[in-house]
Amino acid sequence: MTVRSAVIPAAGLGTRFLPATKATPKGLLPVVDVPAIQLVVEEALAAGIEDVIVVLGPGQDGIREHFAPNPTLEAELEERGKLDALAAVRRATIPSVRFARQAEALGLGHAVSVAESMVGDAPFAVLLGDDLIDPSVPLLRDMLASHARTGASVLAAMHVGAREIAMYGCIGPGEADGDLVRVLSIVEKPDPADAPSDLAVIGRYVLTPAIFDALRRTSPGAGGEIQLTDAIGLLAADERVFALPFAGGRFDVGNPLDAMKAQVERARTHDEIGPAFRAWLNELLR
Ligand code: UTP
Repeated sequence: MTVRSAVIPAAGLGTRFLPATKATPKGLLPVVDVPAIQLVVEEALAAGIEDVIVVLGPGQDGIREHFAPNPTLEAELEERGKLDALAAVRRATIPSVRFARQAEALGLGHAVSVAESMVGDAPFAVLLGDDLIDPSVPLLRDMLASHARTGASVLAAMHVGAREIAMYGCIGPGEADGDLVRVLSIVEKPDPADAPSDLAVIGRYVLTPAIFDALRRTSPGAGGEIQLTDAIGLLAADERVFALPFAGGRFDVGNPLDAMKAQVERARTHDEIGPAFRAWLNELLR
């Protein structure tokens, strides 16, 4: 079945970025000059997703405004001949994006469940704004192709260091099927000594609609939140779930240190400011 919809949960509290996220949603924090959430919406559309659903929390209407047309600003920029700025505003105007509401930040799994009626009884993708994927890496496309071949849920995964696995959902791997690895179990943020593998779940998922039933059966887990990982564990007991390991081209923007690395990486390769930034960086590090 073709995957038409993508859910982008953006309703978390963003506590690691306070006070920046006190009045500004985390998704609107820029990576150089483009808000992270815009890069994620663009990734979904580039992979052929037609219906993008962003899950918003209280006080996050700035995200809705970001994608809405702003004819006054466009007219002003046109009149002043600021054509590059006008193009940037038009690129950010994506009125087809739809919005779901999570009234309280009860967890990533709960955020996905509030989009159920908008997704319907169909497979769908989930993209987290904390993980940015280099646009030249066709990860979501490859996941959609794997889903089309198997009809099963497919999780993006990466091999990480033995100590790093404690920060991720960790896959209990089964047999390989081409590029895919069967997911037998999944554990959120394991103690490295107990981790069943070094294969970490990264924030891209293609899920069958059976996940909604699994979410209903999921009790609050780590941090008292309804965890998507726990629901995927239940799903893997009922039907086949696969992981698609990939390497490179992922930037973590979920915490300030890694987000800073992502800023430097994007600035270094930026069309406009890249050359000047690289020269400054070389000077700084001399
Ligand atoms: P995170 O736990 O990384 O985001 O959730 P957070 O809660 O906003 O950040 P910290 O930990 O407080 O700094 C991963 C993704 O799930 C969304 C977040 O917006 C983020 O994109 N999320 C999380 C929700 O939409 N709702 C929730 O209740 C929790």
